[in-house]
Amino acid sequence: MVRPSLSTVARACRPFLNRTVLKFFTVIAMICIPLSIYLLHVRIEPIQAKRYVKSLPNYAWLIRSGQSSNQTDDKACVYPVLDPYSPEMMAFFEKQSPIQCEIDENWVYIENATFRISESALKKYGPDIECSYRTITRGKTDFEVERGPSVPFKDGDPLKTDFAIVQCYGLLWKKFETILSGISYQPDLHARYKPSMLSNSSMGFNVLMFGFDSVSRMTWIRNLKKSYDYFTKELGGIVLEGYNIVGDGTPQALLPILTGFTEAELPEARRGKPNAKQVDGFPWIWNEFKKLGYVTQWGEDLSGVGTFQYRMLGFNETPTDHNLRPFFLEGENNYEKSNCFGAIPSHVQIINWGKDMFLMYKDKPKFSFLFHSKYSHGYTSKLQVADDDLLGFLQWLEKGRFLDDTILILMADHGARFTSVRDTVQGKLEERMPFFSFRFPKKFIEKYPKAYANVKKNSKVLTTPFDIHETFIDMINHTGTGVADIRRRGVSLFKEIPKSRTCAHAQIEAHWCTCLNWEKVDENVKKVDENVKKAIGSVIRKLNSIIEPQSHLCHELELGNVSQIVRYSGPSETLLKFKQSADNDGRLPDLSDNIAMSEILYQINLSTKPGNGHFEATVHHAVQSGNFIVYDKEISRLNKYGNQPYCVAGKLPHLRAYCYCKEQLST
Ligand SMILES: *[C@@H]1O[C@H](CO)[C@@H](O)[C@H](O)[C@H]1NC(C)=O
Ligand SMILES: *[C@@H]1O[C@H](CO)[C@@H](O)[C@H](O)[C@H]1NC(C)=O
Ligand SMILES: *[C@@H]1O[C@H](CO)[C@@H](O)[C@H](O)[C@H]1NC(C)=O
Ligand SMILES: *[C@@H]1O[C@H](CO)[C@@H](O)[C@H](O)[C@H]1NC(C)=O
Ligand SMILES: *[C@@H]1O[C@H](CO)[C@@H](O)[C@H](O)[C@H]1NC(C)=O
Ligand SMILES: *[C@@H]1O[C@H](CO)[C@@H](O)[C@H](O)[C@H]1NC(C)=O
Repeated sequence: MVRPSLSTVARACRPFLNRTVLKFFTVIAMICIPLSIYLLHVRIEPIQAKRYVKSLPNYAWLIRSGQSSNQTDDKACVYPVLDPYSPEMMAFFEKQSPIQCEIDENWVYIENATFRISESALKKYGPDIECSYRTITRGKTDFEVERGPSVPFKDGDPLKTDFAIVQCYGLLWKKFETILSGISYQPDLHARYKPSMLSNSSMGFNVLMFGFDSVSRMTWIRNLKKSYDYFTKELGGIVLEGYNIVGDGTPQALLPILTGFTEAELPEARRGKPNAKQVDGFPWIWNEFKKLGYVTQWGEDLSGVGTFQYRMLGFNETPTDHNLRPFFLEGENNYEKSNCFGAIPSHVQIINWGKDMFLMYKDKPKFSFLFHSKYSHGYTSKLQVADDDLLGFLQWLEKGRFLDDTILILMADHGARFTSVRDTVQGKLEERMPFFSFRFPKKFIEKYPKAYANVKKNSKVLTTPFDIHETFIDMINHTGTGVADIRRRGVSLFKEIPKSRTCAHAQIEAHWCTCLNWEKVDENVKKVDENVKKAIGSVIRKLNSIIEPQSHLCHELELGNVSQIVRYSGPSETLLKFKQSADNDGRLPDLSDNIAMSEILYQINLSTKPGNGHFEATVHHAVQSGNFIVYDKEISRLNKYGNQPYCVAGKLPHLRAYCYCKEQLST
């Protein structure tokens, strides 16, 4: 949709007015006035910052039943083997047509930090096309951009900052305007790397990590078939089949990868929490690469719900040398039409920016992380539109020999959290098993044959985001191969992970662990079993204890209906144990070996009243003590809460899923 505002109309007319000679004035007025009236008439509201749907529809039960498994039984974690084309999932799969931008070609493009005016634009709109640009740079915070003054430019002029709005006029006052991205030339960054910076234990390869939001391994195979085939068959990519998430949502996936810690372990950065600070002080892995002389790049779309800006306060300073945020902040607010910036679809935008990085720093070490969300976070099949372009990107990297010294990672954060596939049992498992893969160059395989062989072996055992971080550390200071010490939460994939690794070793909570065999609790048992009743009661008590500090505003919750209950009573060595503290929010795993605790778990799907909230919670029944414990992070809200928590939503966003305000807004 066209979304012009009064000011864009005024801007469009300004250059004409500047150059006005009287005899043109009438003509211009004749064009601009009716145009303004037309444009303002069809003006629609600016798109609101897009928000992740925080409410989730029904969860299907996590039951591993009858799945064929080709894993040897000596593995402690037997993760589910799923079928990407199972009829249950294919029912949600739809063929998509490609993205159609409103225009076919941009008049201006960027070629290795140089403005180029396209040949065909010159043919169509005359050799005297006049163009100007305004630089777009990061403002004082993650939520502002700075626009430079308008400066005329010619074909071949340099791009001075990474992002620019360009405006051109051609014959018959034809106009072109869009926002462009590139990697500008910065001599200090070129001068950063000195060979002496790499210690003899650093592996010294570029890292390119490219991902999509909310894509399970199965969904990647379903939606990105051509590029997946090329990646696995032609490039020899290795896909981690036992990769399991360690928490709910994108930060819970990306923080362990990028910092080695969970959000709760890092300094408080959540909006509305006392003493919360921006996330600059986190131990970001890109800083470690920077110390070795690497140039760093990070970029994601959906600036309105940025991974580190939506619930958290974002960065105070730019985190990486090249940071895409200002582009999408300006672009998504003012220039995006039909998923495109000019003639460039949103995902191609990110791909091109990655290419620009490799062109600009062809022979320099670089760390790049690019992440695209728009098509996959809320849709089941839409990601198909990116398949051809991802394939093209991989082929471009390979043909240009950029992969010769690059470790390529294709990945996702988690599977779908709230689209319709989540109503199925497989969908629930897929949420917990995102796509994650590595591809190593020939040079790496020759130099580190054992490490390479270990990654291949490890692709068949339980792995987590923490392992990815350890693998980065191992790239920086390689400590050899051998057997991984699974007493540590995260281990490098270059070391062989023993088959005895469980979710407990990897510190994956039962709620997210896909290696547990849950069994259904029979309807009759449900009604009479005292432990089941206590487990249900403990969920309601927990919900009320969360809202208790706001009990003057939030209604006390009572049990509505209980749907299904599943139980795990398998070996408790495989379960992560926690230190039992009053403050479960920041609880710590108990790693002392001296408790012989046996636990039975219940996963309960129930509704509450008033407000009809649907929740899924995992309850820990400590058999010896008889306690029933529910941890904050093992409760999922399954349905929309809408305006129900309006009375606390702004100040205490973490209570939104639980609070039903005593006074409800009339709708
Ligand atoms: C979970 O509970 C909700 C609310 O009671 C219900 O609508 C849904 O069908 C339940 N899901 C399953 C898989 O039982
Ligand atoms: C199991 O895996 C082995 C080795 O990868 C393979 O040869 C065999 O065909 C597989 N069996 C099944 C039933 O998939
Ligand atoms: C790395 O350098 C140290 C001293 O600078 C040397 O002792 C060691 O043998 C070297 N290691 C390798 C693998 O070259
Ligand atoms: C791009 O420009 C930079 C800076 O001038 C130069 O170092 C680099 O080699 C160029 N890349 C290509 C592929 O021409
Ligand atoms: C790598 O080793 C060096 C030298 O021991 C150390 O200073 C640096 O902190 C290490 N880097 C990482 C990321 O562990
Ligand atoms: C419980 O389930 C019954 C039957 O499905 C339904 O009529 C009732 O509204 C539900 N109660 C609550 C509180 O969800």
